[in-house]
Amino acid sequence: MAKPRTVYVCAECGGTTPKWQGKCPHCAAWNTLEETVESASPTAASHRYAPLAASTPVRTLADIEPRETPRQPTGLDEFDRVLGGGLVAGAVVLIGGDPGIGKSTLLLQALAALSANSRVLYVTGEESAEQVALRARRLGVPTGNVSLLAEIRLESIQAAVSEQRPTVAVIDSIQTLYSSELTAAPGSVSQVRECAAQLTRLAKQTGISIVMIGHVTKDGALAGPRVLEHIVDTVLYFEGDTHSSFRLVRAFKNRFGAVNELGVFAMTDRGLRGVANPSALFLSQHEQQVSGSCVMATQEGTRPLLVEIQALVDSSHAPNPRRLTVGLEGNRLAMLLAVLHRHAGVSTFDQDVFVNAVGGVRITEPAADLPVLLAIMSSLRDRPLPRGLIAFGEVGLAGEIRPAPRGQERLREAAKLGFSVALIPKANAPRQPIEGLEIWAVDRLDAAMEKLR
Ligand code: TYD
Ligand code: MG
Repeated sequence: MAKPRTVYVCAECGGTTPKWQGKCPHCAAWNTLEETVESASPTAASHRYAPLAASTPVRTLADIEPRETPRQPTGLDEFDRVLGGGLVAGAVVLIGGDPGIGKSTLLLQALAALSANSRVLYVTGEESAEQVALRARRLGVPTGNVSLLAEIRLESIQAAVSEQRPTVAVIDSIQTLYSSELTAAPGSVSQVRECAAQLTRLAKQTGISIVMIGHVTKDGALAGPRVLEHIVDTVLYFEGDTHSSFRLVRAFKNRFGAVNELGVFAMTDRGLRGVANPSALFLSQHEQQVSGSCVMATQEGTRPLLVEIQALVDSSHAPNPRRLTVGLEGNRLAMLLAVLHRHAGVSTFDQDVFVNAVGGVRITEPAADLPVLLAIMSSLRDRPLPRGLIAFGEVGLAGEIRPAPRGQERLREAAKLGFSVALIPKANAPRQPIEGLEIWAVDRLDAAMEKLR
């Protein structure tokens, strides 16, 4: 066998170079190259992926008989919602999130629920078998049919899975595994990539659903190379503030369901509980109307959600006034303030502006523009918005208000929760009136501001 060669693998894109460099030549990221040992290049027949490369003849799409993918509900409604209705046989799910947010808890609960009518296997590389058992006891879930394996060697795990043939296997976590084919340490790019690829292959061959827990880096992305997200079928992220008890599971990629689908949980002393009607969560309870607060109707996957946006505008004493957002995009705020100045004649150059989405929820859709500006105007003038008002709509650079997708559903959710006025883009105005909801449809920012006078 040839002597193993040292190569440098980029933690961002997974590209390799023979020499260390400060900048990855493939994706131009800095300081991402890590040393790994490349195993000798095998011949075609002995390659460990060779069994996977069974060749099939070229056919037309019409000749291929599609199979319905059976789904297995996990028994946790909110988790099933993000998965798109349950776990698909042979699917590989990667779930990431900050440490201590509840990944292990959620999957242990899901497995315990699934174990009632299917075989399940929990592979723990992070905690000892006793620790997992202790958690299960605390959760008060049935554990009689949950098989447990405390192991970090990939080959042993593959053997155990092939032998046990569970319907669902959970790997907690992918960063603790190592393959004895490689000499790199567990958690290194090459190990994570290899272990994920081998487990994916196993899932596809056997039809076992595999859920892998993944760690996230400092800036919240899944650790390991980006390729991990391409290998798996579904990528879920656990979000939420560890200081509050609410946890959001978001589908970031899903080959079997809608993306940006959101599952809402509350962490209790007996594990995670699904929250069926989350809109009320993201509204803070004010005794009376306060300034700087605007409720927005946002859409997360297939579900509308009402979220309160708060703004504080205060005179600045620094040469550079502060613009700060929590749960919203920071750069977008600067742009919106410029639009507000140009198209509504309101300047904020001598004001600090802080904007927050209540409840630790993160809103990335541009339909938050109008509510953000309304909250800012309300704070600036120290005047509350009209009672029972909700808003949504994208604000363009020319001061126009653009429609948001699925406006009807947002409006219906708002009416259901007792809101009485909706300030929305003209193009989203409903054809039939919605009971209890007065519609203020606007197409320009100045017209929207006019409504508040
Ligand atoms: P855990 O699932 O271990 O997080 P992760 O696997 O994502 O690192 O979650 C542990 C946290 O959840 C810990 O801070 C304690 C809390 N917790 C509860 O509040 N209630 C419970 O019933 C359980 C099991 C954990
Ligand atoms: Mg854990």
